[in-house]
Amino acid sequence: MAGFTTLQTSERPVIVMDNGSGYTKMGFAGNAAPNFVIPTAISLATSMRKAAGPASCSDDCNILIGEEAVSQHAHSVHYPIRHGVVKSWDHMERFWQQSIHRYLRVDSEDHNIILTEPPMNPPENRETAAEIMFETFNVPGLCIGVQAVLSLYAAFAAAEKGAKARKSSLTGCVIDIGDGCTHIIPVSDGYVIASAIKSIPIAGRDVTTFVQQLLRERKEPVPVEMSSDVARGIKETLCYTGSDVVKEFAKHDTEPGKHSKVYNFKDPRSGAERSCNVRHEAFLAPEVFFRPDFISDEYTTPLPQLVDRVIQSCPIDTRRDLYGNIVLSGGSTMFKNFGRRLQHDLQKIVATRQPPGGSPVEVRVAGAQHFGVWFGGSVLGMMPQFGSMCCSRAEYQERGFRSSVVANDGAN
Ligand SMILES: Nc1ncnc2c1ncn2[C@@H]1O[C@H](COP(=O)(O)OP(=O)(O)OP(=O)(O)O)[C@@H](O)[C@H]1O
Ligand SMILES: [Mg+2]
Repeated sequence: MAGFTTLQTSERPVIVMDNGSGYTKMGFAGNAAPNFVIPTAISLATSMRKAAGPASCSDDCNILIGEEAVSQHAHSVHYPIRHGVVKSWDHMERFWQQSIHRYLRVDSEDHNIILTEPPMNPPENRETAAEIMFETFNVPGLCIGVQAVLSLYAAFAAAEKGAKARKSSLTGCVIDIGDGCTHIIPVSDGYVIASAIKSIPIAGRDVTTFVQQLLRERKEPVPVEMSSDVARGIKETLCYTGSDVVKEFAKHDTEPGKHSKVYNFKDPRSGAERSCNVRHEAFLAPEVFFRPDFISDEYTTPLPQLVDRVIQSCPIDTRRDLYGNIVLSGGSTMFKNFGRRLQHDLQKIVATRQPPGGSPVEVRVAGAQHFGVWFGGSVLGMMPQFGSMCCSRAEYQERGFRSSVVANDGAN
């Protein structure tokens, strides 16, 4: 009988695979950054789509993933993850096959693997992922980490450079804003406080659409087929979070020449250099998290207010630690001064309830939030206790998938 705390593994590095709605971050544990960050997109050649049988190696030449899929077969591209949750397992399996064999160039039978999941992932999704990993890819061991918990690992490791992450410090409130979903997830001693989690129906993709709309309204000379890429480029390179939207408008309107920026881009078809002006969208884009009513009639609660509600709904003895360790995660928290604005607005809300010296609010910005979840996996995979957190193939065959103790979602 296989020991349940001992993995039958080789010494080969653990694969860390964070599949997001927009981007997949993949690489090996122990590294500071993923080897590849590619769109979570797949395109299948026509003959394959008709056949739609189980994935096999001979299909490889017909399948493209990442940028290749998006740029070469934009008309037949599939995005297997929506709002953080896998929607097509067939596409996901093929995407993993290409990622492991063509990108990481390893044999999946030789490497333990860490996958990530959003909070409140349905248990059956976790089981399907385990089934594919053990039965199709024959991995020796699998650990599925909750993204928020992994972000806490990353933040802790970044704060204590060189030191090992300690489980006792895994208390914090993670704000994960990716491409397709936004979650506020309180974690106490490594366990997600599931009853307090809240989501916001606005994430990076909506911000891109907003920038696109503003450029169109101002009639900036951006070809329609490029408008989404240009808007995303502007968002990622020129947008910033202002301290006060009224002041930002005044600043831009009194001295437009000083504050407007130019974004240069290339037309991929003609190769011509083009440019457009960036005005109010520079500060309006990230503002949608503080003023969601700018883009939504239905969802209007500002992010700081929702964070406060989440923490207030947690057990009273955890609240101080949660306010004191707010961790930003996900690419859409990378706007300049985003953390500072959040800390300021949240502190103001807390101060209306508490005497001076009450719970201090601290928002931690690691600086590489776009792969914070992945980096947390990289740290986890190097921990001495990783073996006991991983479900081995023998254990899977005997009892089914066992989630890890620390990275598990307390709800499931
Ligand atoms: N510097 C930046 N400033 C603002 N937004 C950015 C920046 N870099 C990346 N983004 C945005 O972050 C998003 C991708 O983030 P991330 O990789 O965390 O999402 P994901 O994991 O694919 O999605 P999800 O977690 O929602 O399933 C995209 O919308 C991208 O445009
Ligand atoms: Mg993500």
